[in-house]
Amino acid sequence: MKHSIYLNNDVEMPLLGLGVYSITEQPDVTRSIRSAVQAGYRLIDTASAYKNEEQVGEAIAGCSVNRKQLFLTTKLWNTAQRVGDIQGAFQRSLERLQTDYVDLYLVQWPVPGCFQSTWKEMEKIYESGRARAIGVSNFEIRHLEELKKISGIVPAVNQIECHPFWQRTELIEYCKDNHIHVQAYSPLARGAYLDEDMMCVLGIKYAHTPAQVGLHWCIQRGLSVIPRSTRPEHIRSNAGIFDFEIEEEDMELMKTLNRDYRSADIPEDLRDIPF
Ligand SMILES: NC(=O)c1ccc[n+]([C@@H]2O[C@H](COP(=O)([O-])OP(=O)(O)OC[C@H]3O[C@@H](n4cnc5c(N)ncnc54)[C@H](OP(=O)(O)O)[C@@H]3O)[C@@H](O)[C@H]2O)c1
Repeated sequence: MKHSIYLNNDVEMPLLGLGVYSITEQPDVTRSIRSAVQAGYRLIDTASAYKNEEQVGEAIAGCSVNRKQLFLTTKLWNTAQRVGDIQGAFQRSLERLQTDYVDLYLVQWPVPGCFQSTWKEMEKIYESGRARAIGVSNFEIRHLEELKKISGIVPAVNQIECHPFWQRTELIEYCKDNHIHVQAYSPLARGAYLDEDMMCVLGIKYAHTPAQVGLHWCIQRGLSVIPRSTRPEHIRSNAGIFDFEIEEEDMELMKTLNRDYRSADIPEDLRDIPF
């Protein structure tokens, strides 16, 4: 099974990455990234809002593989959109990350009244070569349709919450039709489905853990995944998702697990976004 895909601008991106949300202490960040790299991960997903770009930059600088072998994603936070300081925010992220480019820069949320002008600034960043690809996160179909009206650059990625408890089928179909790769965040639903009966039964059937079944399910649907962990044994285990196939009838069965379950909190200052 392939371990990477090509985005709509031909940039290659690994299908598995390490998410580092809420990991902020340097020893934890360093241990997580080191364990992930040892286990074969080549993608790290951070964000300016995670307040750990400096620690991530430090961990990458001391890492056993060089920067060019890694795929580094970071994200623009809402405050920068509201004050219109996209270029400044991006530059500060680069400095904190100790790099002169990122592989993927994402608009983290479609801030109402801002995200269209933000995207025009994202285009400039892309054209400068300092982000190999640009994309969005938490965008619904209507937001993507808005971008289509104002820009010739199609987001390479839409990073959204997706897992067996929230399957996002319509949005994923739309993204596929429009050449936007979907990356699943919170792909473990922060643990919510790991004790679910069907996931345990499928885990036994495929001789993998429920977490591995859930992550593989995303990949088999054409998504990439960025599970988070600080525990080396979980980080290793979450990489063991490429050596089996879920049978079609089980993929069908898993559709019944959907319950539109949201695991990530909506930030307080985004309550005005009509989801
Ligand atoms: N774009 C956005 O707005 C957005 C929003 C949310 C998240 N994200 C990104 O997506 C990444 C992942 O999402 P997430 O952090 O929300 O949640 P997640 O990856 O679904 O779940 C993380 C939780 O699962 C546990 N875990 C990991 N592997 C496990 C395993 N094999 N068995 C049992 N438990 C396991 C972790 O604990 P241990 O540390 O103990 O393993 C942690 O508590 C984030 O880190 C971030 O990079 C993006």
